[in-house]
Amino acid sequence: MSQPQKTALTRYGGWHPSNRAIYESFIQDLVERSAPLSRARAAHTDPVAKFQAAINADPEMVDLWSQIFVQASPENKVTDFDQLLYWMDIIVVAPPRFYIAKDDEGNVIGEPIGVPLYLVFDLLSNTGAAYDLFRRQAFNTALKDLLDAWGAYLSDPNADSNKTLTDEDEGWFSSVAIASLEDKGRGEFNATYVCPDPDAVNRGFTTWDHFFTREVQPDARPVIGPKILPVANTLIYSACESTVYRIVNNVKAHDQFWLKGQPYSVYDMLYRDEVTAQSFVGGTVYQAFLSPQDYHRWRSPIYGTITRADVVPGTYYAVLPDAGAEVGDPDLKPGDPHGAMIRSQAWLTHSSTRAIIYIQADNPVIGLVAFIGVGMAEVSTCTVSVQVGQKVSPGDELGMFHFGGSSHALIFGPQAKVNFADTVIVDQHIKVNSIIAQVSAA
Ligand SMILES: *[C@@H]1O[C@H](CO)[C@@H](O)[C@H](O)[C@H]1NC(C)=O
Ligand SMILES: *[C@@H]1O[C@H](CO)[C@@H](O)[C@H](O)[C@H]1NC(C)=O
Repeated sequence: MSQPQKTALTRYGGWHPSNRAIYESFIQDLVERSAPLSRARAAHTDPVAKFQAAINADPEMVDLWSQIFVQASPENKVTDFDQLLYWMDIIVVAPPRFYIAKDDEGNVIGEPIGVPLYLVFDLLSNTGAAYDLFRRQAFNTALKDLLDAWGAYLSDPNADSNKTLTDEDEGWFSSVAIASLEDKGRGEFNATYVCPDPDAVNRGFTTWDHFFTREVQPDARPVIGPKILPVANTLIYSACESTVYRIVNNVKAHDQFWLKGQPYSVYDMLYRDEVTAQSFVGGTVYQAFLSPQDYHRWRSPIYGTITRADVVPGTYYAVLPDAGAEVGDPDLKPGDPHGAMIRSQAWLTHSSTRAIIYIQADNPVIGLVAFIGVGMAEVSTCTVSVQVGQKVSPGDELGMFHFGGSSHALIFGPQAKVNFADTVIVDQHIKVNSIIAQVSAA
């Protein structure tokens, strides 16, 4: 088994632009567009005005915000809460778009900004004050209202969120954008996804959310494998199109050192359900994350029956503050303060807003499997599409994420020995519905 070469943008894939010029062009655009609004003391958009009122109603939240700006890295360009609100005004009334810039050699390059609010919160979140504020329930309630309003706009066919579904520079169908959507072997766009109107530039997607939650064509992501029992019943299929983040065996119920090194605590991952967590103690966690360019629906990894499906509330922008990228980070220089959320992914399985779906496998050796869809940043909406009692087969839809990117985890109990395929290694992009493991009795 050979390790793939660590190329740029393996771990931060699509979350943080790989090229600094794109990031700077995105920030510069916000600086320029917010300046006149701020000078004129322009009225805020409705969702932002509500968010501002919720913060101002609580002196502790106001104080924490001012501490965040003092504590943030000097690289942070948004200087105070007032300016932040004007930046948010620009973001939450528009669909995510592509950014084109010139690199150091003058070449035209382009990358999507799939999660713009995340990029604005990135350096702010990596502070002690944000660690306190961003985990408060009142804060997340205010943020959820804002994100819901943005989400409603992105899925309203009468609004103009389809305006970046073009082949122009800002569009998701320019040649540069298409190349990014097809990267990592995802396949030719028209042949891979269900396009409602294949002949149109916008491929017939009516809203940005419609495009984001696009379905794959069945023969582009087939569920391949022996259909014959008992072998078929031992296989585990990839539930999401995603990049492998971490595999851990012998997980604990609680871990008192769970901040340092971010070991998994099954009890917290399962929203402090002590009884159910017991079935997974000593078991295996597999975690992989989705990039904004990936397919965003979840598919069943096994044959089984849905025994429970919950969406649990949690945080959106909270991270574990750190001293920046570590030595050996494939994408960022050591100490670079950006990207703490990506480095906090294991911890986010305990804290983020997330969907938890339990599937009782037909095969008793696999037993109970927990699927966790971890909403990250603006991915506030996890939609479950299965019912309790429903029989599922590998490849059946379980639900989906709306906007941005996100992470997911599968948890197996200790009775299952999960033998991962050779292709399943950290930083490797894995297609949905492909075989990731075979289970035997432990
Ligand atoms: C967005 O949708 C409207 C209404 O269907 C349509 O007239 C317009 O051409 C679409 N714009 C893009 C860029 O697809
Ligand atoms: C995909 O569809 C678009 C819209 O019909 C078309 O312009 C483009 O040439 C197609 N691409 C390929 C590779 O067939």
